[in-house]
Parts: sequence; structure tokens; C-alpha cells
Amino acid sequence: MSEVNKNQKDFWSGKGGDIWVERQNAMDTMLSPLGEAALNKLNFNEEENVLDIGCGCGHTTLNIAKRIGPSGNVTGLDISEPMLKRAKESAVEMSITNTSFKCVDVQTEDLGDQIYSAAFSRFGVMFFEDSIAAFKNINKSLISGGYLSFVCWQSPAVNPWQSLFIQEVKKFLDLPSPPPRSPGPFAFMESEYVSSILEESKFQDITIEGHEAEVNMFSGRSLSDSVKDYISINPVVTQMLKESSENQIAEIVNSGIEAFSPYYSEKGLIFPSATWLVTARK
Ligand SMILES: C[S@@+](CC[C@H](N)C(=O)[O-])C[C@H]1O[C@@H](n2cnc3c(N)ncnc32)[C@H](O)[C@@H]1O
Repeated sequence: MSEVNKNQKDFWSGKGGDIWVERQNAMDTMLSPLGEAALNKLNFNEEENVLDIGCGCGHTTLNIAKRIGPSGNVTGLDISEPMLKRAKESAVEMSITNTSFKCVDVQTEDLGDQIYSAAFSRFGVMFFEDSIAAFKNINKSLISGGYLSFVCWQSPAVNPWQSLFIQEVKKFLDLPSPPPRSPGPFAFMESEYVSSILEESKFQDITIEGHEAEVNMFSGRSLSDSVKDYISINPVVTQMLKESSENQIAEIVNSGIEAFSPYYSEKGLIFPSATWLVTARK
């Protein structure tokens, strides 16, 4: 693998990936309804050959495998070894045989030519250093007329699970905000920008639809454990706190607990969320 996307590889193949594996069930509870909304945009037939981009622990890949049935195929690609290991284990546990998982950087590595009939992603396409290169690569791997569908976050301003916590961090740390559009969960918050990337990558029939839904974060965890999990699972916050002392982090945790407490109930943290459902065709 090349050195491009190094910060992302360090996070997803390091501690970030480990905690995503540990908290897989909680993350799937949070993200499943949003992923389903994007998946429902694709009308699979039984012969489908689907690509799942940034598949992580494989929940969506296995879900697609079940939807298309045994004569179709689905390939999950990711840069995180621990998450892919978990995905492969789940496929074996569930006796699903029409999937494969590979450690591949979707931006820099060859995905093949005209192989897949559809490409999908649940929050796995916002981490590229060069998004146009990545989407050109995805486009090349699709057959003519092949479909693309993904879900990504709108701005933190309409996702209080992010903006509230960042406000708390900024009370303690004087940090500049990352440059707009830099790789991370909110890189695709501007729909015009997403549209321009897809146009430049030769996609057509682009649609971008706003989707609002409640999300349930860290179901089953206490409020203080939820805040600690939140810090280690969130790439933006991990980056912000990387130089902080233990005392400072403890103060930020306490402040985060206070900010998140109005959103906490016996079901866990429940926040409003806003995403984009994006579809296009090669
Ligand atoms: C927010 S997680 C989403 C994981 C999974 N799709 C889910 O919904 O649970 C983002 C995923 O994108 C992967 N990723 C980031 N950059 C990538 C790249 N250049 N190529 C392939 N995967 C990448 C990460 O390793 C991570 O698994």
C-alpha cells in the first residue's frame, strides 16, 4: 500500500479500527437505518456483482449478500485489517459464502475494469485524500450503466452528536478547524461538492437527497462510557485530542457528559441526524 491516505490508514488500522470492532454492534445499531435507506435505492437482481466500499466490519456486505442470494456476489474493500478480520469471521459464523473481503485502498489501488454491476457505501467514501481519483477508480470498476449508491453525513451543524462535542473540546483546546473538505466524516457535507466530484469522475444521473432520522448511539452503555467510546471511535475527535494530557481528556469527558446528558435515556444516546443519500450511474 502507498503512503497516500496515511493518517486514515493509521487511524482505521490502529486503535480506531480496534474500537470499531469492539463496538461493532453499537455502531451497526446507529448506522443500520441510514445504510438501509441508501441500500433501498438499489434494486438488486439475483446475478448482481456488488462492491461495498469501505465495508469496515462487513455488516452491509453481509446484508447485501443476503439480499442478492447465492448466485450473486459481493466484495467488501477496506484499508483496516482488524475490521476486515471481523468481517471475514462474521461471514463464516453466518455461513455466507458469496462474499469476499480484501484489504485494498479504493483511491490508489486498481479495482479492475468493468467488473461490478453496483457499488455501495455506508459512510466509507469520505476519507480519500483525492476523492476524484477514488471515484474515477470506482467508475472504472463498474460495468456500463452500473449503479452507485452511498450515504454520507451532512454538516455537523445539523448533526448535534458531532457539533455539541466539538464545542466542548474547543472550550479546553485552542485548535484550528480542519480545512473544509479534508478527509473525514464531514468531507462530503456540501452536496454541490459531492455532485462535482461525481461529474468529474464521469458519473451521470446524479441524485442527492437529504435524509433526516434519529440515531441511537452506544445503546446499552452508561452515559460516561458512551462519551469515552465516542472519543475513541470518532476520527475527528481522536485527531483533536492526540496531544492532550490525561487530565485534559478527563476534563473534556466530564464536559461532554454534561453536553450529551439531555440526549441520554435508558435506550442510550438518541440524537437527530442528517445525511445525504447519493445515487448515480456509470
Ligand atoms: C466510518 S467507517 C464505515 C465502515 C462501514 N462502512 C460501516 O458502515 O460500518 C469508514 C470506513 O472506510 C474505510 N476507508 C477509509 N479510507 C479508505 C480507503 N482509502 N479505501 C478503502 N477503505 C477506506 C475505513 O477503514 C473504515 O472502515
